[in-house]
Amino acid sequence: MYETINSPFTIGSVTLKNRIIFAPTSMGLKEEEYLEKLGAIARGGTAMIIIGDVPVLKSPFLSLYSRKGFLRYRRITETIHQNGALAAAQLHMSDSQFSRLIKYLPGMITGKIKPDELRILLNNTVSDYITGLTDKRISEIIRGFGKAAVLAKEAGFDVIQIHGDRMCGSFSSSIYNRRKDRYGGSPKNRARFACEAVAAVRRALPDITIDFKLAVRQENPHYGNAGILMEELPVFVPLLEQAGVNSFHVTLANHSDLSDTIPPASHPYFHGEGCFLSYCDEVRRLTDLPVCGVGRLCSPDFVEEQLKSGRIQLAAMSRQLIADPEWVKKTASGSVSKLFKCTGCNRECLGGMQAHKGVHCIRDHIQTKNKSLSHERKVVS
Ligand SMILES: Cc1cc2nc3c(=O)[nH]c(=O)nc-3n(C[C@H](O)[C@H](O)[C@H](O)COP(=O)(O)O)c2cc1C
Repeated sequence: MYETINSPFTIGSVTLKNRIIFAPTSMGLKEEEYLEKLGAIARGGTAMIIIGDVPVLKSPFLSLYSRKGFLRYRRITETIHQNGALAAAQLHMSDSQFSRLIKYLPGMITGKIKPDELRILLNNTVSDYITGLTDKRISEIIRGFGKAAVLAKEAGFDVIQIHGDRMCGSFSSSIYNRRKDRYGGSPKNRARFACEAVAAVRRALPDITIDFKLAVRQENPHYGNAGILMEELPVFVPLLEQAGVNSFHVTLANHSDLSDTIPPASHPYFHGEGCFLSYCDEVRRLTDLPVCGVGRLCSPDFVEEQLKSGRIQLAAMSRQLIADPEWVKKTASGSVSKLFKCTGCNRECLGGMQAHKGVHCIRDHIQTKNKSLSHERKVVS
């Protein structure tokens, strides 16, 4: 049972012990709780954990370039390895101007600007920022991808994922990118930034496995503003492959509502299991490289079917593994009835992140409540 889920799979120079990946998930937790959560997900049998949003350049937040940041990432990879999984670093370059963030900081602190409003304010600046970036700055950022990849490897990461959204996604998008030079205009030109980022990593680390988070947007109905239009995939996918990508992690592009890319069960359009898999079908037509699906992948039967049919080669999960880090173990041992299935409520995961309380699951509350109830019962008896 669930033979495909539990079968190993090789991408580039690494072999994953099974087909399940923890999708990049920034958690906003204190260090010890974060490491504990990553350890639990690794112990639960997941083959690889992708650490979200690892900065490409030096950053006022922790980055690979400072001693403190480097040691933090090393602790992360050690925790993941000690618990039996591989670690991937998602190299991330923001497309928000830091000076704008500083401008809005007082409003955020006083609560005048809510997180959702901040997102809209920042999104409104993306097009001007991307369109106005100088060649010199672009070269610095591209070099940064190579340097950050080398540091990530030194910190113990086994795989590099390039965040194909954010700055790569904004360059890719005809909605945001209004440049008139070789980085703008035609789909081939708009693919140049992402391809140069991939090539920089490939040059710096010829043998590393490079996964690319391919951010797709669609029309009719319109979803996603950054990223690559479905119809443009035939241009982008081969170029990215030539640049050195080993696999694609395919999802909806960002910069619309966060609840589109992290859709709740009540989402009007992306409510079904495997809600972004139709994008994978299109990518599958264009390349022989492995394709990883993500988005409401929860039930073992459904996931096994998608893998077995060859529709996808790998399945990534974020909220399901937050809800039940032992998904893989329980699936492998036939204890599927004991799985805690993600309900897609988004209350404590996305909700927790937006409320700056850190990412949790409603399950944590249920368990805490049950524990205190049983404690009360013991005290009473
Ligand atoms: C709390 C939270 C944080 C996330 N952080 C990131 C991130 O740092 N980078 C990223 O590319 N995607 C991030 N995602 C998106 C997930 O990787 C994934 O694409 C999305 O949640 C859909 O998958 P799911 O249905 O399995 O949750 C995040 C998702 C959640 C719920």
